[in-house]
Amino acid sequence: MRYEDKRVGSKTLFERAKRVIPGGVCHNLRFFPPYPFFVSRAEGAYLWDVDGNRYVDFWMGHYAHIFGHGFSDVAKSVSDFITNRGYHFGLVNPEEVELAELVVEVVPSAEAVKFCSSGTEAAMYAVRLARAYTGRDVVLKVRGGWHGASTDLSKGISCPFDVDESMGIPRSVQGTTDLIYFNDWEKTCEVIDRYGDSIACAIVEPVVGVGGFIPAEKEYLKKFKEKLHEVGALLIFDEVISGFRVSLGGYQEKVEVYPDLTVLGKVLGGGFPIGAVAGRKEILELSSYERSKPERVLMGGGTFSCNPISMLAGAVVLKRLSEDRELYHTLEVMTLRLREALEQAGEEMGVPVKTTGCGSLFMVHFMKKEGRINSPDDVCEKTYWQVRDTDFRRLMAERGVHMIHAGGALSTAHTEADLEFTVEAFKDCLRELRL
Ligand SMILES: Cc1ncc(COP(=O)(O)O)c(C=O)c1O
Repeated sequence: MRYEDKRVGSKTLFERAKRVIPGGVCHNLRFFPPYPFFVSRAEGAYLWDVDGNRYVDFWMGHYAHIFGHGFSDVAKSVSDFITNRGYHFGLVNPEEVELAELVVEVVPSAEAVKFCSSGTEAAMYAVRLARAYTGRDVVLKVRGGWHGASTDLSKGISCPFDVDESMGIPRSVQGTTDLIYFNDWEKTCEVIDRYGDSIACAIVEPVVGVGGFIPAEKEYLKKFKEKLHEVGALLIFDEVISGFRVSLGGYQEKVEVYPDLTVLGKVLGGGFPIGAVAGRKEILELSSYERSKPERVLMGGGTFSCNPISMLAGAVVLKRLSEDRELYHTLEVMTLRLREALEQAGEEMGVPVKTTGCGSLFMVHFMKKEGRINSPDDVCEKTYWQVRDTDFRRLMAERGVHMIHAGGALSTAHTEADLEFTVEAFKDCLRELRL
């Protein structure tokens, strides 16, 4: 049965949405053709749409849920809080102190932390702090890296990386952000040499996210950090996706390379809006209200920053994760098995498929050319990346599985049966997928 036949309610909602919301969606990734299904409920590993269709979900709220949708510990704590204490004070609260202490305890490079309401804001602030600390302007980011759509970082996000990402970015800003090649030390080195002591910082997702869920090589990160420090620049890790997900202390803990600043979000908010900048205290101190103009970094607005609900939900999740570090291993093993099964399904169906990933994160690539997938550039050059969020996403949704970029994140709510269901849906989808 075609996608549209079982999604009449979603179609009506999409038509209404398009009249009042440009394109019908507020986050571009939520659209796929012919129209997205509208979600009415989510629990554990599943979503249900307004027409009653169920999906095994690997998007997990933009990878924010590590215990699945509607995690009962969070739901109970938050509903008790709202019933008994309110929900938005706009003032300091005990919950923010507890979450800050937890972050400093578990993230290896975090001596201090400051919260805001999104990863986008946090990345923007991290860059501002680095510029202030070094007194320099140039920011390097990875080709295929995504840090939210702040003005400084809206460059080289999607294939082709050399085409402007957005109108409305001043030319002067375009000139102070430049791009580096992920996992390619020689080319990265060339860019660092070109800018030398004008570089304020490089911001890197150590597990590049939308660019392919590709982990950075440990040696690459080590050399990168050394070289940046040699020229007096800072290293920022964007661990909005990988933080608390690939291990409790993030990817930095896995590879033992510690950045000057780390941008955090997603899992940290326990399913509620959050962003954070953590790192060296002397850098973060530049944002203290105790410093006066012009000797301070303006960072510390946000109507909902440190709201008690996000702080509480985040603390509940971080404490559960701290109590059960073994779950990272379990999730990684399950994800590796899923990746193997998907690659094998591709082989059986005569479709060249490769997967990438780290911990509970995975992505499927439909190969156009032979070779290794070790950077977002490889994804653009060697794969049919366009089908992932068009035909593939629809064909999988028709079969009861929801993936974005042909991948996603496992949670502790996913079962072996969910994964088998997914592999069967994938095989069936490959019968119809045209590359
Ligand atoms: C690596 C990374 N950094 C930053 C962001 C922006 O975070 P937010 O969507 O919370 O603004 C995202 C969001 O997907 C992300 O994946």
